[in-house]
Amino acid sequence: MAAPVIAQKAPYMIDVEAGKTYYWCRCGLSKKQPLCDGSHKATDLVPLPYAATASQRVAMCGCKQSKNKPLCDGSHKAL
Ligand code: FES
Repeated sequence: MAAPVIAQKAPYMIDVEAGKTYYWCRCGLSKKQPLCDGSHKATDLVPLPYAATASQRVAMCGCKQSKNKPLCDGSHKAL
């Protein structure tokens, strides 16, 4: 499997809505970070669905290295 591109070495703060599903960009190529824009089609990576259970602001991983995808776990600090 191809390694993802680091979109940025920091999380993206986005507002999610309870009951909605978001597609987190796993490949790092999307122009709509941290969400998928279809750019992964050039890779063998696929987006990761995130079903929001609450309406809140979340920190989605921008470095694509988190162990708790799609959320930031602080892994970007080691890059
Ligand atoms: S942005 Fe990837 S772990 Fe924080």
